[in-house]
Amino acid sequence: MTLQELLEKESLRFLLFGGKGGVGKTSNAAASALWTADHGRETLVISTDPAHSLSDSFDQNLSGGEVVPIKGARNLYGMEINPEKAYAEYKERTQQVDTSDMGPMGSMMGLDELTDMNAPGADEALAFSKVLEFIQECEYDLVIFDTAPTGHTLRLLGLPEMLDSFFGKVIKMRLRFSKMFGRLKSIFGRGDDKEDQTLDQLEQLKQNISQSRVELSDPTRTSFVIVMIPEAMAVAETERLLQSLYEFEIPTSHIIVNMIFPDIPDCTFCRARKSMQQQYLSQIHDTYDDFTVTEVPLFQHEIRGISHLNKLSTLLATGALAEGDQE
Ligand SMILES: Nc1ncnc2c1ncn2[C@@H]1O[C@H](COP(=O)(O)OP(=O)(O)O)[C@@H](O)[C@H]1O
Ligand SMILES: [Mg+2]
Repeated sequence: MTLQELLEKESLRFLLFGGKGGVGKTSNAAASALWTADHGRETLVISTDPAHSLSDSFDQNLSGGEVVPIKGARNLYGMEINPEKAYAEYKERTQQVDTSDMGPMGSMMGLDELTDMNAPGADEALAFSKVLEFIQECEYDLVIFDTAPTGHTLRLLGLPEMLDSFFGKVIKMRLRFSKMFGRLKSIFGRGDDKEDQTLDQLEQLKQNISQSRVELSDPTRTSFVIVMIPEAMAVAETERLLQSLYEFEIPTSHIIVNMIFPDIPDCTFCRARKSMQQQYLSQIHDTYDDFTVTEVPLFQHEIRGISHLNKLSTLLATGALAEGDQE
């Protein structure tokens, strides 16, 4: 299936772009979104990378934490997930236990870790819970995810397992607390069931993740496009990414090899770069012969704004630059 066929596949609901930092995930996600939107599918492109670049790509501020229409395009909406806003919403929803009330006891028991926005992975976890909402609500014909660089994405995909152990920890802690709370409640006569609500919310989150994983592993609805550049490190990174895509059964059949050096006569530097890239390119074609590999040249300029993205979009889908768009 060509990339154009994938972009135009009727049943497709979720398209994810992933790969190493700086390889062109955002540019290719944005350009693909322009194509699908332009071909009549109401498309939401959403960035889950804490190092957002979707705003730069569309040359429009998308960091407000709300879905907004993309200017200069029809049928297209965008959003960068804003971890702070997601956190505020999360706090409001869960009305979780305020550890500051418990003084040093709360932090000793590790409760800070559960509520601290700065805990490692907390922003990604929250961004991911936002992603789950979009997967479940699915108000758009197609949702395109511009995901975080490989390492982060792997952790997000592993969230259900992570949550399992996290969850186990909470339950254990709760058991330890319940005796103490029982005693405190009887002393102060103040009954409240905030911890029960927190547990319910966690249970709900776990269910949401399991449901989303069903969606994300359905090849009729989901596809993960790997973006890479023809260099050794990118090839190694792709192997790791593929391992976890297989592990979580996320369908993947397309690779975009980006930033290929053009042929420029009399440029020794370009020739050297190109011949280095060619070795990796043939390695990529050999290794991933069951994938559709789409090659994208290095443009003269950065890819920013609708008109640049449109060029990339035409190139991705049809393999050719539009008339008069020679780079
Ligand atoms: N094919 C290309 N030719 C020229 N510049 C590119 C190309 N692809 C991406 N870029 C530029 O490279 C930078 C990184 O791309 P980006 O899409 O933001 O990568 P990522 O999202 O993977 O970090 C951006 O400035 C973008 O405009
Ligand atoms: Mg990016």
